[in-house]
Amino acid sequence: MPLLEVKNLHVEIADKTILRGLDLTIEKGQVAAIMGPNGSGKSTLAHVLAGKANYIVTQGEVLFNGENILAMEPDQRAAKGLFLAFQYPMEIPGVATMTFLRTAVNAQRKARGEAELSTPEFMKRVREAAGQLGINQEMLRRAVNVGFSGGEKKRNEILQMAMLQPKLAVLDETDSGLDIDALKVAAEGVNRLRSPERSFVVITHYQRLLNYIVPDVVHVMSKGRVVRTGGKELALELEAKGYAQYQDEAA
Ligand SMILES: Nc1ncnc2c1ncn2[C@@H]1O[C@H](COP(=O)(O)OP(=O)(O)O)[C@@H](O)[C@H]1O
Ligand SMILES: [Mg+2]
Repeated sequence: MPLLEVKNLHVEIADKTILRGLDLTIEKGQVAAIMGPNGSGKSTLAHVLAGKANYIVTQGEVLFNGENILAMEPDQRAAKGLFLAFQYPMEIPGVATMTFLRTAVNAQRKARGEAELSTPEFMKRVREAAGQLGINQEMLRRAVNVGFSGGEKKRNEILQMAMLQPKLAVLDETDSGLDIDALKVAAEGVNRLRSPERSFVVITHYQRLLNYIVPDVVHVMSKGRVVRTGGKELALELEAKGYAQYQDEAA
């Protein structure tokens, strides 16, 4: 069974149809890139997977490990092993990054019927993961994302992913706003967590990120659908030729 199956998904927001019959299959252990012109619906797909409010699914289904997740609340989806990283990470004034991480990890464990991590065990894990990402203790004491640079936000997001150990991580990358170091941080974080037990969907407009995260498969979106699927060479072809053919095709 594939890890994720999106079938004939139609989604509206504010009375506007954005996704129009999107089909997508993600296999266990696969790293899939989703590319496509601006406005093709890439971020909308990520938001719908996360269960964000205001996105109305009018047709189709989303199966995660064979279960329909559209009926689940966002936190239930997360407890099942779905992790979403967004283009614009949320700032949480007054909540230390360390506290936030611990709350998130334990909430998910609780939802799965697992015991909370003890303080020493949590500290051990967070230190190890933070160390690998070059995150110091001072940053862990600061409020979540408040005053963080772009690179720090990216590190923090990858730290969350490393601590939560998701089955599927969806990364919606701005990469236009990311400097090369932040891009490398994201890529190293993903590459370190790559495993036969974990899948990734890396959403990106530009090919650049895929120099560092080499995908198993590339899907191209246009006008709310996946219009083409290929190997990693497809990303290079898009880089060379641009998206013009995809914009024309569906217009
Ligand atoms: N909250 C919203 N309200 C109305 N239209 C939206 C909203 N969010 C996205 N859209 C529209 O949906 C389309 C797809 O957007 P998006 O999913 O962000 O594309 P991408 O991430 O591929 O650039 C765009 O035409 C955008 O204007
Ligand atoms: Mg987007």
